[in-house]
Formats: sequence, C-alpha cells, structure tokens
Amino acid sequence: MRYWLLLALPCILGCRASHQGRTAADKNLQEELRTSLTRAVAQYKYLGATVPAHRFPRTFEQGKLQTTGADGWVSGFFPGTLIQLYRFSGDTDLRATAQQKLNELRSQQYNQHTHDLGFMMYGSFGQALSLFPSAGYDTVLINSARSLCSRFDPKIGCIRSWDSDSSHFLVIIDNMMNLELLMHCFHVTGDSLFYKVAVTHANTTMQHHFRVDGSSWHVVDYDPKTGRPQRKQTHQGAADSSAWARGQAWSLYGFTMMFRETGDQRYLQQASRIASFILGHPNWPSDAIPYWDFNAPGIPNAYRDASAAAVMASALLELKEYAKTPDKKRYKTTAVKILRQLSAAPYRSSGDEAGGFLLQHSVGHFPKHSEIDVPLSYADYYYVEAALRYLGLVHPKQ
Ligand code: GLY
Repeated sequence: MRYWLLLALPCILGCRASHQGRTAADKNLQEELRTSLTRAVAQYKYLGATVPAHRFPRTFEQGKLQTTGADGWVSGFFPGTLIQLYRFSGDTDLRATAQQKLNELRSQQYNQHTHDLGFMMYGSFGQALSLFPSAGYDTVLINSARSLCSRFDPKIGCIRSWDSDSSHFLVIIDNMMNLELLMHCFHVTGDSLFYKVAVTHANTTMQHHFRVDGSSWHVVDYDPKTGRPQRKQTHQGAADSSAWARGQAWSLYGFTMMFRETGDQRYLQQASRIASFILGHPNWPSDAIPYWDFNAPGIPNAYRDASAAAVMASALLELKEYAKTPDKKRYKTTAVKILRQLSAAPYRSSGDEAGGFLLQHSVGHFPKHSEIDVPLSYADYYYVEAALRYLGLVHPKQ
C-alpha cells in the first residue's frame, strides 16, 4: 500500500498503461473496473452522507447502516477507501469527507490497547500521505507505530493481539497486516526498533502459525513464562483445525508485503506456500470466491466471503510481480477471476441497496453469528485496492 504516485489525472495514466501488452480480455476487465469504480464514487458519497459524525461504516444489515467508533478495528477502511476513490476520480467531495474522517481518527495514534493500528492508521493516513504531504500524517503514523510496538514482547517475539490475563499471550494471523505500518515508519525514520519488531513478529509467526500444508491457525496462544506456544485454536473459523478463509488471505497479503519491504526470500517462499494451499485446495471454488472457511460445514452450500476474495485478489496481484512462471500466470488468472466475479452480481451492488457499500456477501464472524452474508467496509477497501492495482494506477513497490 505504499502509493506515492498519481496525484492527478489517474485515468489518463491508467489508460496509457492499459494499452501496453494487454489482451482484449484484459482491456475488457479494465473497462469493467473503471465503470465499477466510477459507480463506487457515487456510492461512497451516499455512504458519506449517511454516516454520523465520529462514526465509521462497518456493515449494512436489515436496511440499516451499522457503524463503529474511531477505536474499532475497521475505522480506517472508510477514509482509506474514500482516498483511493479520490485518487481514481479526483472528486473533491470524497477528499473532504476523507479529511473529516481522518481528523476523527487521529486520536487513535496513542491507542495502546489494540494491535489493529496498522489496519486503522496505515490503511487511512498511509493512503493519504502522498495526497496531502504537508498534513503531518507521518507524525501520526510514527506515533501509531510506537503505540503498536508497546505491545511487543521480546521473549515471545510477537506483538500481542488481544489483551488477556497474564497466563496467555494471544496472537492472531491477522496481525501480519499491521506490520506494514512498522515497515513504513522504519523507512521514514530509520529507527531500527520498527524493523526489528516487524521482522521478529513475522519470523515467529512463520515458525509457529503454520501447518505443514501451508494453512494457518487463526490464534496461537503463547505461554508468557516460556515464550512457547501452548495452544493453537480458532476464534472466527469453523474449528481449531480448519482454515478460516480471511485468515489465509491476511497471511498471503502479509508475507507478500514483508517480502516487498525486506527482500527476505523466506517471506516470498512463505507467501508462495500459502498461495499453493489456497489455490490447490479441493474446496477452492471454480468461481474463485472462497467459502468463509475452507472447511466450512455444508460446502458447497456454505456462505462465501467476498472480503477474503478481495484481500486475496489484491495480494495475488502483488505476488505475481515477484513470482516466476507458471505461478505468475496462475496468480494473475486467479486475481482476474476474482475481480470479474466481485464486479458483477450478486457481489457488486448496483445502487444504494447495500447502503452505499460496494460488495455484498461477506462473512465477519460466523461462530458469533455476527455479520453473516453482509457488506463489510474492508471488503470494499481491498476490492478498490485490487482494482487500482490491476489498472496500474497504484503499485505497491512505487
Ligand atoms: N481482523 C479481524 C477479521 O479479519 O475479522
């Protein structure tokens, strides 16, 4: 998500990129994505007009917008999506709403009670950096990174995900996504603490979070006394032994990003193993929109998770840049298939029937009976990111 380019006239630049070596099918998808993003601009204006001050869109259920406060883990996705759509369209209404929401989010830079600061702050202020270079957003990000590092335990070698009593130290696979904030702040400040915490967390996760087949557990509970894992389990998946789809997506994205940021080949190998698990799984559907868990009861009648699909598409579009044939082709083909599916019914909403959200049919927390088969703000965020990556309007390495 390090987007330092294309402040102006992104469509023109995208069109230029699109005519270089692209097939007719590629051009077709480009047109579909441009149409979809143009519609998204209007939908997000609608969402911006309906969300109350100091609240952030979470989902839309039974005809009602559900929101979170600034301290909720999804708070950054709405401003982050607005900024991405502003980058695409240049629409200043989107920019104004984004800036208002960033101001409402700012206080979270000092929040030491969550590991989700990468999602919340880098997904928003990080997106805004290149567009508003004098707004002091790097200071916000550096303070956020310091807050995140306060949760690191050197004995365990991880950032604590969820607070718990002193006999547990819980780390979830999702936490890989928060390392991008630290890597950004390392590049900006040169402070090796950020680098050490990010790399140590990634290495510990690589060692303990994965099964031999390349899938990951959702939660590893470390013993704070010994620093060793004492239990591996799930929270949002179907079973401790299952592969929760969004968890696999977070790990794919996280290790691809860590390879980009460090050049460490082990992270690339890890990302490739995760991709092999996902794409080779017998329950990987032919339309490439995963079931909410690879081992969900009731497959093929289990719910799909558009959010996991969107994260996977964005990650695969980056991973293909580093991969060799035939994986390169496979990753691209899959990302394209996902983008095509997500850009049409039943996933892509056509108007305001989903309250302004773009994607329908995601699953938030199935075991808690929460957010099942609904729109989710992060599904939209990664869908837009993947679309912009495909269009060549942003590139993670630039
Ligand atoms: N990080 C929480 C989730 O993916 O639902």
